[in-house]
Amino acid sequence: MSAPVLDLGGVAASYGYRQALSEVDFAVAEGERVAVIGHNGSGKSTLVKCAVGAVPEVSGRIAYRGEPVLPGRVADNVRRGIGFCAQGRNVFPSLTVERNLAIAARAGAGRGGGSPLKHAYGLFPILADRRRQLAGSLSGGQQQMLSIAMAMATAPGILLLDEPTCGLAPAVVEEVFAALAIVAEANATMPVVVVEQNVVPALAFAPRAVVVRQGRIAYDGPSAPLREPAALLDYY
Ligand SMILES: Nc1ncnc2c1ncn2[C@@H]1O[C@H](COP(=O)(O)OP(=O)(O)OP(=O)(O)O)[C@@H](O)[C@H]1O
Ligand SMILES: [Mg+2]
Repeated sequence: MSAPVLDLGGVAASYGYRQALSEVDFAVAEGERVAVIGHNGSGKSTLVKCAVGAVPEVSGRIAYRGEPVLPGRVADNVRRGIGFCAQGRNVFPSLTVERNLAIAARAGAGRGGGSPLKHAYGLFPILADRRRQLAGSLSGGQQQMLSIAMAMATAPGILLLDEPTCGLAPAVVEEVFAALAIVAEANATMPVVVVEQNVVPALAFAPRAVVVRQGRIAYDGPSAPLREPAALLDYY
């Protein structure tokens, strides 16, 4: 197996006195799709936030392509190729779609060369149609698509997403996963790690699943067995 793109070993993370992760080993290889699931407060967000350096109090090994991920230095880590789509509608609502994408492309500091905006419009033509519209006027699903396109505009070498379908209607959840599939297929070597509460579409999207329970990894393996609710409950 080639060297992992993302490699966490013996990771612990806390927020003050609150321990959020303990003894986490999690490696992601080129081209993998991983669904990270688990109860509220289990540590899913903390796991992906650690990977982009957004949790200052961490210990253990966190490496991206063999180089340490710097805690607290999110902008630097994004510039190095760690694409991150945070939970919530993280677009600038009062700016146009195009402006949002341009700002995101700048965060990637021209990584990958080419034209990130053209690339984003190629992936999601609806965003090209709406490029002059304010991001806040888009539907929830379209805002999420923009948010994914913004992460992709940094030309990442890995894409981490925290609950991209949070608060969306079931039909829109499907749309967002269809968008994610487009992104993953267009970037076959780029691993995609998606934190989700919508377990069914997440497991359909990702052949590998990780269940986080009370800050530890309770399951890491093929997602297929977890499609059986009884099996899922064993790890929740
Ligand atoms: N900024 C913070 N300050 C203090 N405690 C925090 C902070 N962020 C998270 N925690 C705590 O750390 C633990 C893990 O939180 P985390 O957000 O990683 O869970 P999660 O699995 O993403 O939950 P959810 O499904 O609600 O998004 C929880 O107990 C949470 O209360
Ligand atoms: Mg979370």
